[in-house]
Amino acid sequence: MISTMHETRNDINHRIRTSMVELLNQQLADAFDLYSQTKQSHWNVKGMHFMQLHLLFDELAEGLTVQIDDIAERATALGGTAQGTARMAAEHSRLPAYPEHITSGVEVVAVLAERYAQYGATTRAAIDNALEHEDQSTADLFIEISRKVDKALWFLEAHLQ
Ligand SMILES: [Fe+2]
Repeated sequence: MISTMHETRNDINHRIRTSMVELLNQQLADAFDLYSQTKQSHWNVKGMHFMQLHLLFDELAEGLTVQIDDIAERATALGGTAQGTARMAAEHSRLPAYPEHITSGVEVVAVLAERYAQYGATTRAAIDNALEHEDQSTADLFIEISRKVDKALWFLEAHLQ
């Protein structure tokens, strides 16, 4: 994902900033896709636990909007361009597509758990990547996100155990 870089007084070298912006935009695409899949679940889930799941999914989606904003703004803070439209996310997301016809609570929770687990794994890889580039602040952002994604996955998986 090639992103236009801008001049900045930020002292992190250009090569590192470019790598970090690419990493941030990849995570942004996945996070945006996961947000839309979580909202899709919020709207369409059915069954005896409808209300509880409807509310849980909205809470998870809200958490993702904060992460999406933080990731995009870290990319721009490093002189990059945030690749943040729905079409960009659709083009670059690594998450599996949302199955079209699922509605039962247990199916929907399992689909989301699989995707939150994947996003958690790529977030952990992003921490390592940022640390290898000695960009502590980007690593710190991903560490914070990783903790939140692990918690979201726990909330989802607790329904399946
Ligand atoms: Fe809603």
